[in-house]
Amino acid sequence: MGRPQVVLGVSGGIAAYKACELLRRLTESGHEVRVVPTESALHFVGEATWSALSGNPVPTRVWDDVHQVPHVRIGQHADLVVVAPATADLLARAAHGLADDLLTNTLLTARCPVVFAPAMHTEMWEHPATQDNVATLRRRGAVVIEPAVGRLTGADTGKGRLPEPAEIYEVCRRVLARGGALPRDLAGRHVVISAGGTREPLDPVRYLGNRSSGKQGYALARTAVARGARVTLVAANTGLPDPAGADVLTAGTADQLREAVLKAAADADVVVMAAAVADFRPAAYATGKIKKRDGEEPAPIPLVRNPDILAELSANRPRAGQLVVGFAAETDDVLANGRAKLARKGCDLLVVNEVGERKVFGAEENEAVVLGADGSETPVPHGPKEALADRVWDLVTARLG
Ligand code: C5P
Repeated sequence: MGRPQVVLGVSGGIAAYKACELLRRLTESGHEVRVVPTESALHFVGEATWSALSGNPVPTRVWDDVHQVPHVRIGQHADLVVVAPATADLLARAAHGLADDLLTNTLLTARCPVVFAPAMHTEMWEHPATQDNVATLRRRGAVVIEPAVGRLTGADTGKGRLPEPAEIYEVCRRVLARGGALPRDLAGRHVVISAGGTREPLDPVRYLGNRSSGKQGYALARTAVARGARVTLVAANTGLPDPAGADVLTAGTADQLREAVLKAAADADVVVMAAAVADFRPAAYATGKIKKRDGEEPAPIPLVRNPDILAELSANRPRAGQLVVGFAAETDDVLANGRAKLARKGCDLLVVNEVGERKVFGAEENEAVVLGADGSETPVPHGPKEALADRVWDLVTARLG
C-alpha cells in the first residue's frame, strides 16, 4: 500500500500559518500531502511555503494544468481531506455544495472522510448561519472539530481559535485509521474525565508524584468530543495541549482534583477517573524548603491517606443512572486484583492494565481488560490509546440506555 494521500485545504484566515505546522506533522509521519489553498489563503501564506513543506506543486486555480483535470482528480485520489483553517465562508460554501474554486471542487469530488478545523471570530462561529452549516456538514458525515477558546486575532478572546495543530493532526490520524467519522452516540451527554497524576507537596519545591502522562485521559476526552459529548476534562499536571472542544479545568493535588471532579459530576451522565490519584500525601506541609543538615539523617516523612474519589463517587451518585468508570494499574495478578478492586470501589467499569517501568506510562499505546460490575470482561488488544478510549465509550453507551 502506498502512502496515505491527504489533501490539506487552507482557507483565508490568519490561522493559515498554523496549518504549516499541521502540514509538517502530516508529512513527517509518512503522509503524501497536496495543499490546496484558496485565493485568500495565499494572502496569508504564499505558494512557495506550501510547496516547499509538502514537496509537491501547489495548484491554486481550477484553470491551472487543466489537461490533468485537477478539480476532479485531487479529490478523487484523496484518502482524507482536511481543511484548516476553515473560515465561516468556506464552511458555508462547503455546506451549500458550491464549486467556485479548486478547494470547493475538491470537496465535492472527494469520497473519503473530510475534517474541518474552523477558525473565526466568536460572533461568526455563533451565528445561526454558521451553526446551521456546521450541522449540515456533520449530518453528511464530515468531522467538524469544535474551535478552541482563547486569544483571537487582535485583542479579543473567545471561542473560535483554531485548535492546536497537534490536536488537528490527532483527529486526522484517527479518522484515517477508522476510514470515516465516528458515531455521535454521546450527543447530549455530559462526561467528566480526570487525567494525569496528582502531586502532593512536601514543601514549596518538592512533591510526591507519579509517572502518569495524562495521554489516556486526553484520548478519552478527544474521542468523547468526536462522539458528540460535552466534555469536562480535569487535568492534573499534564502539560498536554487542551483537547479541542473540551472544557479543561486544572487540579494539582488529590484534594483539588476531588473538588473539581465532584462539582463537575453533579450533572454528568458519565465520570471516568483516568487520573492517577496519589493514595497518600505528606501529613504536614513545610512552608519553607526542608533543609539538609550536616551530620543529620533525614527525618522520615509521615503520610496520611487521601480521599478515594472513585469510591466516593460510586457510593454517592448525584444523578440516577450515572455511570462511573475507574482505571487500575496493576503490576501482578492483574485480573484477580482488578476484580477485587472493582468490587471495593463500587464502579460500573474498571479498565485494568498491567504497568511496569516502561509499560504504558507516557507511551502512545496501551493494552487492557475492561471489567464490568455485571461480570463482563472485554479484552482490548495492544493499540493506540484512542482505540482503548473508543472501546470504553462503546461499553459506556451500551450501558447508558
Ligand atoms: O486504588 P487505586 O489507586 O489502584 O485505584 C485506581 C482508580 O481509583 C483510578 O480510577 C483512580 O483515578 C481512582 N482513585 C481515586 N482516588 C484515590 C485513588 C485512586 O479516585 N485516592
